[in-house]
Formats: sequence, structure tokens, C-alpha cells
Amino acid sequence: MQLLAALFVLLSALHLAVAAPGDSVLPAAKLVVRQATANPPVTCAEYSTIANLSVIGTNSSYRAAFLQKSPTGTLANAAMFKQAQLKLPALTADAALNRQCGNLTQVALTEAARNLTNGIVAQFTTAGLPVGIKNGPEVIICVLASMIIMSGVWIFAS
Ligand SMILES: *[C@@H]1O[C@H](CO)[C@@H](O)[C@H](O)[C@H]1NC(C)=O
Ligand SMILES: *[C@@H]1O[C@H](CO)[C@@H](O)[C@H](O)[C@H]1NC(C)=O
Ligand SMILES: *[C@@H]1O[C@H](CO)[C@@H](O)[C@H](O)[C@H]1NC(C)=O
Ligand SMILES: *[C@@H]1O[C@H](CO)[C@@H](O)[C@H](O)[C@H]1NC(C)=O
Repeated sequence: MQLLAALFVLLSALHLAVAAPGDSVLPAAKLVVRQATANPPVTCAEYSTIANLSVIGTNSSYRAAFLQKSPTGTLANAAMFKQAQLKLPALTADAALNRQCGNLTQVALTEAARNLTNGIVAQFTTAGLPVGIKNGPEVIICVLASMIIMSGVWIFAS
């Protein structure tokens, strides 16, 4: 993520440099760079989203249900949860924000629990989810196959 961010900033800088001669492009490009690096105050809606995502990402029951139901890829969702989890502690501790919006961390915690008992995780229902983790002889075959394929890379590369 950090590498990507650095790359993005670098690309933005390059874009700026390229755009510099034609000044009609410049203001927009400048704005994009400023928005990417500035740290704007968090709105209640953002706090709510971050709190909800972080709570779902932190609890393994919610997280597993969400990942199975979500049409978005697991990697993208995991990155999204991680972002939210990194941001939430500061927001939870922000007294002014919690006065303004109410303690949305607390709301997310209680509501996520209530949602799960009603069979809901975020915007998805938990109906039709397989219960538990797949286990059986096929797991051994998969693990063996992975080991052979991955060590093969080392053997053939050296
Ligand atoms: C977060 O969860 C609360 C409680 O269920 C809900 O009222 C709120 O709309 C959710 N926020 C977002 C952005 O979905
Ligand atoms: C909001 O609720 C959370 C979870 O109950 C708690 O840890 C946190 O201290 C509360 N924040 C404020 C500002 O009261
Ligand atoms: C996750 O949420 C469920 C339902 O609210 C709760 O029973 C469980 O203890 C939570 N697990 C963790 C690790 O917090
Ligand atoms: C609870 O479920 C509602 C309705 O699906 C959803 O909008 C809300 O975001 C959920 N809250 C949390 C904390 O997951």
C-alpha cells in the first residue's frame, strides 16, 4: 500500500512537471496532488463508514461472512479493512468528533452484533453461507501441490 502510495505521488509529480508548460491543465493537477496529501477533517459519515468497516474487519465472524458475501475481491476488501482499522483508533479517541457525531465506534460495535443476530453483515445477509472451514483429504493434496510448485521455482531458478 505504502509503495503504491509513493508511486502514485511520484506519478502525480511527473504529471505536474509534464503539464507545467500548458497552464490550462495545471490547476486541476495541482488540486489532485493537494487532495492526495492533505489531511482533511473527518465527517460523521466518514467516521461511520470507518467504524463500521473496522468493526467488521476486526471480528473474525463478521469478517469471514463479509468476505464470502462480497462481490469485491478478498485482497481489496482486506486492504479496505486494514485502512479502516488503522484510522479508527484516532477517531475513537477524538473527543470533539465523538461529541459532534455521537460515539459511532460504540454504535458500530452494538449494531454489528445486532445485525449478525439478525443475519446481516454490513449490506449482506449471512443466508446460504457454508459453516466452518473446509477440511478433508483434499487439503493435504492442495498443500502438497503448493509445496512442490513453490519449491520447484527455487530449484529451477538456481
Ligand atoms: C454504520 O452502522 C450503523 C449502525 O448499523 C448505521 O446506522 C450506519 O448507517 C452505518 N454507516 C454506513 C456509512 O453504512
Ligand atoms: C467510544 O466508545 C468506545 C467503545 O465503547 C470507547 O472505547 C471510547 O472511549 C468511546 N469514545 C469516547 C470519546 O467516549
Ligand atoms: C465477534 O462477534 C460475535 C457476535 O457479536 C461475538 O460473539 C464474538 O465474541 C466476537 N468475536 C471477537 C473476536 O470479538
Ligand atoms: C447493519 O445493517 C444495516 C442494514 O443492512 C446496515 O446498513 C448497517 O451498515 C449495518 N451496521 C453495521 C455496523 O454493520
